[in-house]
Amino acid sequence: MSGINYRTLAVVGSQWGDEGKGKITDYFAQKADFVVRWAGGDNAGHTIMIKGVKYKLSIVPSGVFNKYSINVIGNGCVVNLRKLISEIKYLQENGFNCHNLRISDRAHLIFPYHIKIDELQEEYRQKDSIGTTKKGIGPCYQDKAERIGIRLGDLFDEAGFLQKLENNLRFKNEVLTKVFNTSGFDPKLIWKEYLDLFQQIKDLVTDTSILVDNAIHQHKKVLFEGAQGVMLDLDHGTYPFVTSSNPTAASIPVGVGIAPRYINNVIGIVKAYNTRVGTGPFPSEIFGETEQYIREVGQEYGTVSGRARRIGWFDGVLMKHSLRISGYTSMAIMLLDVLSKIKELKICVGYEYEGTQIDYVPSTIKEYEKCQPILITMPGWEEDITTVTTFEELPHNAQKYLMKLEEIVGVPISLFSVGPDREQTILMNEEIF
Ligand code: GDP
Ligand code: IMO
Ligand code: MG
Repeated sequence: MSGINYRTLAVVGSQWGDEGKGKITDYFAQKADFVVRWAGGDNAGHTIMIKGVKYKLSIVPSGVFNKYSINVIGNGCVVNLRKLISEIKYLQENGFNCHNLRISDRAHLIFPYHIKIDELQEEYRQKDSIGTTKKGIGPCYQDKAERIGIRLGDLFDEAGFLQKLENNLRFKNEVLTKVFNTSGFDPKLIWKEYLDLFQQIKDLVTDTSILVDNAIHQHKKVLFEGAQGVMLDLDHGTYPFVTSSNPTAASIPVGVGIAPRYINNVIGIVKAYNTRVGTGPFPSEIFGETEQYIREVGQEYGTVSGRARRIGWFDGVLMKHSLRISGYTSMAIMLLDVLSKIKELKICVGYEYEGTQIDYVPSTIKEYEKCQPILITMPGWEEDITTVTTFEELPHNAQKYLMKLEEIVGVPISLFSVGPDREQTILMNEEIF
């Protein structure tokens, strides 16, 4: 039956990741029954700040700070068991238990050999390296697509698990020793370690597709937490400088195991400017004083790797591409406070490609690298806005900047953020979740 308004909201990274998805997921998680991750692994780094205390998560969903919500790692995610267990311990030590965590039995496992291969491939690519997080993400999804991946549910069958490891390592060890001239891995050692780790979380492993589907049908509030961003999407990002999964809203049904019609609200998480970690084209990138100023004020260093993030102006062409693919019903504009005290703010409104103006993201890197940003200038504001609690309290030029972003993208802003803390969030539309 059409017309049923399911109580779901998807939180999607609209740019190159690190837009503040963790912060917004935590914010809405305060009223969510379920918080569900659908893609990626511990390449994600999500920062949450609650009353001045910062928490960093990579694989556990950011709903874990609400003890009443159930947090789900969906089948579309790839899971490093060592990392998962260390994150659970870190949370426990900080007073947050993970009893409400559930992990899909269909999620694929990241093994030490995936990490090693990720490192070696990056080294091998030299100047063409992607700048991956070296967490084994690509090699793990590669095994999944090749149909030799090992899933969490496989660990219930100990003998079968060993056989899969042995089969996989027979080939991979040949490559490691003969192509890369390095040591291989002992399947028995990995088997033992992983079974030990698995013991600690196996009660949390279940068919999460059934769990989430039931929750939606019972009209529970279900929040979907994205990782990465649309420009890092395997199909729609700046291929090959992308991750190996699909961070777009379109991949939620596949990565969770639910029907597409349940995704009726999508909030695009949008940085008020732009950042990118790793290599690849970035038309609105800026260099010099303003770049350094934004990096320092915004503390733009990778949560996972500590790498300095590249900085750029807000890019309207990118956002239209992102909107077409992920279908935002509203936007959250993040890190607006970082732009205070910059005299003139620029916004990219088009690209110049070989002498002609274009308004789309070209499919090849060669073309995209040649795109020059067409920039408009907006007047900045001097005031510190970190204590603002309403749109009306914002300086006039900050209001105008937000309204310009809304006009360019063509999607209403439902929320804006003026600092990392949960409390520095201004909700403009109470109805979105
Ligand atoms: P995610 O990967 O999308 O969850 O984003 P990250 O956590 O990797 O990066 C966002 C960074 O910006 C984190 O350090 C957040 O604490 C911080 N942050 C989020 N919102 C705001 C904001 O409105 N203002 C400022 N100054 N920092 C913010
Ligand atoms: P969150 O969820 C920013 C980037 C890497 C690299 C490319 C491929 O915190 O927004 P991978 O290790 O996935 O094979 O690396 O993708 N990347 C991210 N950049 N935020 C992320 O996640 C990212 N996850 C991967 O820097 O360029
Ligand atoms: Mg991040």
